[in-house]
Amino acid sequence: MSLLVIGGTGTLGRQIVLQALTKGYQVRCLVRNFRKAAFLKEWGVELVYGDLARPETIPPCLKGITAVIDASTSRANELDSLKKVDWDGKLCLIEAAKVANIKRFIFFSAQNVEQFNNIPLMKLKYGIETKLQDSGIPYTIFRLTGFYQGLIEQYAIPILENLPIWVTNENTYISYMDTQDIAKFCLKALQIPQTTNQIFFLSGSKGWVSSEIINLCEQLAGQEAKIQKIPLFILKVVSRFFGFFEWGQNISDRLSFAEILSAENNFSKSTFELYKMFKIDPSEIIQLDDYFLEYFIRLLKRLRDINFEDVQKQKNLVI
Ligand SMILES: NC(=O)c1ccc[n+]([C@@H]2O[C@H](COP(=O)([O-])OP(=O)(O)OC[C@H]3O[C@@H](n4cnc5c(N)ncnc54)[C@H](OP(=O)(O)O)[C@@H]3O)[C@@H](O)[C@H]2O)c1
Repeated sequence: MSLLVIGGTGTLGRQIVLQALTKGYQVRCLVRNFRKAAFLKEWGVELVYGDLARPETIPPCLKGITAVIDASTSRANELDSLKKVDWDGKLCLIEAAKVANIKRFIFFSAQNVEQFNNIPLMKLKYGIETKLQDSGIPYTIFRLTGFYQGLIEQYAIPILENLPIWVTNENTYISYMDTQDIAKFCLKALQIPQTTNQIFFLSGSKGWVSSEIINLCEQLAGQEAKIQKIPLFILKVVSRFFGFFEWGQNISDRLSFAEILSAENNFSKSTFELYKMFKIDPSEIIQLDDYFLEYFIRLLKRLRDINFEDVQKQKNLVI
């Protein structure tokens, strides 16, 4: 089976690519910058030029492809790209997939997407879900929560750098997931026919509130967080001025994310039944505390190595 991955350079996409290669799939990645994607080529991926914001570049990328895995989304720093990438580009991708007779199309959406028409990315995601369902292409849609990887930028780095962390008075539990585990589900979907034409809510096995994540980071970093509390309703008012939504990256994320958190939602809904269907043992799933522990151990080791190199350099200078 040959796969076309879109978003292979991204946080989730690269995990999908890595696991797909390990499983022996032929992997092609649609990329818009070969230099940035050089690491994928080193892993054994075939790179093809394509840009979702330039629809004419999409159809040739699908030649000889069996399944499409779309893990792309517009980058938060490319301000005018939201509609071009997450709507126009995706519509063109679905159309091209139909023409190419693609046997499975995997798309990543977000939890509670149907409830947040006021958030542009959520609205577009929901629209694309519908278009994909109507396309006649065998599909699998995963509705995701936040990624562990996003929590590093949101909590761990600010604590380490003594920068403020914004928290609201919200107390919602969120079952974040490691992208390695999401990738596992994604690739299993290709092997399990019952996952065709289905929408799955994927989330981790344990819900976390932000204060627990902060405590965990404080313990591991041996440093206290500078917490800035802001009432949720103020965040909501401010968020009206930010029309853009992109998870875990800039201020508008935090604002829109807060809005999602404030609603009745099922973020922490258990996905254990799913694990059975996907033949994934829940004990294989990486827990957030283990993920953070590994991150801090790696970081401390790096800092020690840098320190060691500096001492060596100084010794050499003295000699
Ligand atoms: N992050 C979360 O917490 C979260 C939560 C729920 C759902 N999701 C969804 O999960 C999926 C993966 O998210 P992620 O956080 O891994 O994404 P990401 O790290 O932001 O990566 C985005 C990917 O899309 C590519 N891309 C952007 N614009 C493009 C264009 N014009 N043409 C072709 N490729 C383009 C990027 O390529 P470049 O490297 O060239 O920029 C990159 O590979 C997305 O659909 C996202 O909406 C994410």
